[in-house]
Amino acid sequence: RRWGWGGLLMELGWTSTYLPPQVHHPAAPVPPFSSRVFYGIMFDAGSTGTRIHIYKFIQKDPGKTLPVLDSEMYHAIKPGLSEYKYNPEEGGNTIRQLLKIAKKTVPEEEWKRTPVVLRATAGLRLLTEEQAEGILKEVRSVFPSALRHFGSHTILAWVTVNFLTGHLYSNTRRTVGILDLGGGSTQITFLPKSKKTIETAPSSYTARFSLFNNTYELYTHSYLKNGLIAARLATLGALGADGLDWKVFTSPCLPKKYRAEVTFGGNTYKVSGIPDGYAGYKLCYYEVQRVIKGIFHQPYEVKGTNVFYAFSHYFDRANETGLISERGGTVEVRDFKKKAKEVCNKMTKYRPISPFLCMDMTYITCLLKEGFGFKDSTVLHLAKKVNNVETSWALGATFDFFRNFNIH
Ligand SMILES: *[C@@H]1O[C@H](CO)[C@@H](O)[C@H](O)[C@H]1NC(C)=O
Ligand SMILES: *[C@@H]1O[C@H](CO)[C@@H](O)[C@H](O)[C@H]1NC(C)=O
Repeated sequence: RRWGWGGLLMELGWTSTYLPPQVHHPAAPVPPFSSRVFYGIMFDAGSTGTRIHIYKFIQKDPGKTLPVLDSEMYHAIKPGLSEYKYNPEEGGNTIRQLLKIAKKTVPEEEWKRTPVVLRATAGLRLLTEEQAEGILKEVRSVFPSALRHFGSHTILAWVTVNFLTGHLYSNTRRTVGILDLGGGSTQITFLPKSKKTIETAPSSYTARFSLFNNTYELYTHSYLKNGLIAARLATLGALGADGLDWKVFTSPCLPKKYRAEVTFGGNTYKVSGIPDGYAGYKLCYYEVQRVIKGIFHQPYEVKGTNVFYAFSHYFDRANETGLISERGGTVEVRDFKKKAKEVCNKMTKYRPISPFLCMDMTYITCLLKEGFGFKDSTVLHLAKKVNNVETSWALGATFDFFRNFNIH
C-alpha cells in the first residue's frame, strides 16, 4: 500500500495520469495503527503579503473514507514579495521565516511526503521567472514535493467550501455555490443540478475536473472588470477615460459634498458627488445598471434552489452596514436592496463608514439581481470561516495537488 498524498489521491480515485511525477513518494512504512495524520502546506504570495496555511488531516480508514481536516495553522508576513522585486534576497527571507514555521509545525518524518504549493498570485507573478524559481528551490530543499500552481481561484474556493461544509463527502451531489467580489473582478461558481445550465452556457463558462472519486462539471466564470473598485470607476464613467489630469467624475451615488482622488490600476481619478444635483438610490441604481447591462450571462438555473456562499466585499459591506454580525450570517438578496436604499437615502449618516457605501451596496444589489439573475428571495451565506477554517481557496489548492486537478 502506498501512503503519502499521492497514494491517498489514487485511493480516492484520482487517475494516475493526473499525478505529476513529484507526487510518487518512496513507499513509506505502513504505520501500525489504522488512522493516520498527514499535512498539506500552501504558500500564498499575494500582493499585500505572503501567507502560509498548514493543514492537518486525519485519515481514519484509508481507501474507504475521505480525510477529515483536523486543524489549520495560518501565518502572514507583510509586505508581499512584489515589494522585493529589486531585492529578491530580502524577499527570500520572508519565505525562509514561513518555512521555519512549517518545519516546526510538521514533524520531520513527514516533510518528504508533505505536499507544498506555492500559489502564483500577484506577489509571485511580479517576480521574474528566475526569482520565482529560486524561491521554489529553497522551499524544495525542505519539502521536495513543492510545486508552483496556476489553477483557477474560484474553482479552488468551491472545492474548499464544499469540503468544509461536508458536501464533497456525500454522493448526493448537493453542493453549495460560490460568489466572490474582489476589487478588480467578480466570480460565480456552482455545480448545476440541471444539464440545461451547462448546455446553455458559453463553453468558456464551464469547467470539468475529477476529485475524490467524482467528476464535476461546474458553471464558473470570472468577470474581470466587474469587481467592486473597478465598478466604482466604471459607474463614474472614469474607467478607460481620457483627460484624467483635469476631469472630475461625478455620480449621484456619492455624498453631494464629497471630493477625492482615487487611485486604481496605476491611474489617479478625481471624483466627486454632484454638489447642486440629486443623489439617492434610484438615480444611483440607474447609473450602476450601465456597468452590468449586456456584460453578464445569466445561468439557466441560478433562480433555482442552489445555496450560495458569498465572500470578500459581499461580506465586508454586509458587515459594515450591520446586515450581518462580524461572525457572518445569512441574508436574502432583497436585504441588500433594502439596505442599499437606506444607505443611499441617508448618505450623511453612513459617510463615516465609507463615502462609497451607497454606490457599493447599490452595485451589489444590481449585480445579484440583474447580473447573475438571482431572485429577491435567494439566500446568501456570508462567512469568512466555515467550521472555523478560513474559506480561502488555499485549502482547495492543497487538495488540488496540483494540475492533477485537471481543469479543462
Ligand atoms: C471510489 O469508488 C470506488 C468504485 O466505485 C469505490 O469502491 C470506493 O469505495 C470509492 N472511494 C471512496 C473514497 O469513496
Ligand atoms: C466588521 O465591521 C466593523 C465595523 O466597520 C469592523 O470594525 C470589523 O473589523 C469588521 N469585521 C470583519 C470580520 O471584517
